[in-house]
Amino acid sequence: MAKANLDGNPITPLSICMIGGGGFIGSHLCEKLMSETSHIAIVVDVSSEKINHLLDKSLPWAKRIEFHHMNIKNDSRLETLVKASDLTINLAAICTPADYNTRPLDTIFSNFIDAIPVEPQYYMLKEDVSPCIFGPVHKQRWSYACAKQMTDRLIYAEHAENGLKFTIVRPYNWIGPRMDFIPGVDGPSDGVPRVLACFSNNLLRGEPLKLVDGGRSQRTFLYVKDAIEAVLLMIDNPNRANGHIFNVGNPDNEVSVKQLAELMIKVYAKVADVPASSLSTLDVTSEDFYGKGYDDSDRRIPDMTIITKQLGWKPRTSLDELLDSTLQYQHQTYSHAIKKELSNPST
Ligand SMILES: NC(=O)c1ccc[n+]([C@@H]2O[C@H](COP(=O)([O-])OP(=O)(O)OC[C@H]3O[C@@H](n4cnc5c(N)ncnc54)[C@H](O)[C@@H]3O)[C@@H](O)[C@H]2O)c1
Repeated sequence: MAKANLDGNPITPLSICMIGGGGFIGSHLCEKLMSETSHIAIVVDVSSEKINHLLDKSLPWAKRIEFHHMNIKNDSRLETLVKASDLTINLAAICTPADYNTRPLDTIFSNFIDAIPVEPQYYMLKEDVSPCIFGPVHKQRWSYACAKQMTDRLIYAEHAENGLKFTIVRPYNWIGPRMDFIPGVDGPSDGVPRVLACFSNNLLRGEPLKLVDGGRSQRTFLYVKDAIEAVLLMIDNPNRANGHIFNVGNPDNEVSVKQLAELMIKVYAKVADVPASSLSTLDVTSEDFYGKGYDDSDRRIPDMTIITKQLGWKPRTSLDELLDSTLQYQHQTYSHAIKKELSNPST
């Protein structure tokens, strides 16, 4: 019997075109769609590395997932795939902050939703009320948020003028296994991933965790597997999701970046069986770390009213739990390669 959605209606299998579906979030969404639903995933990306484990032809869902190696900037095949699908989820972006300053053009042309108010009265962000505030143009870090907001507005205008059905998701620091890369192992040695992978890299190498401007910024962190539950509710309940913008975050998991580093040191010491006293933090300036043009908001907290009302979704995983499973994954996946590299630096 077909599964029912929140309104008791049967869930019909959809063809879902997932642009950028080979990345961190896409890989978790594909895993969920393949193991727990009958939906079909048509994945478009420049890389399939993070979903190769799902593409083996012997797997029971082999007929429900296909991968198209494609750069969406210049490939006309994309339109055909989108038109043939029931739903398109766009995840493609350059979303590593270190690239916002050094590759602002790519950042602008590749990005989608986001907008970051910076005044204390706007720390709590409401999707339908909070204004969008950006830093000045020479602070190129804001190119990402600005490009995301342009897309929000384009989607909304298409909805208003042409009746486009849409749902916009605002991910608030979704983290977990497969996020970004470890420099020198599965990414460029001079690459700078997002904070989770930066700190993981430092921990794996036994280096101090670098705190940009003292790690004062506060963020809320959500386990990617909780986040994927929310996305699946949107897919299976279009009547409740259409036309809405959803914050998807975990306000209960709010810490400063410095506290995150300290927590990761505590958890990693246990996971890797090393003394926590051998792991430390180091203050660095944002200019030294990210280059000229860096800027960020001190704090941003997702208001959860709309997603609770429409979909009844609530995050479940505490920061301790999510760091425990994520750092176990990082240790199992990377520690061997890093040990080898450190013992033989010339190779
Ligand atoms: N992870 C988060 O907490 C978070 C927070 C805010 C916004 N987002 C947004 O969610 C989306 C997915 O994020 P993610 O964390 O999975 O990042 P990710 O970098 O792991 O995934 C993005 C994917 O897009 C692909 N891509 C980029 N440019 C492309 C192109 N021109 N053609 C084809 N593929 C291309 C990349 O290869 C990558 O696999 C992004 O739009 C990101 O900005 C994520």
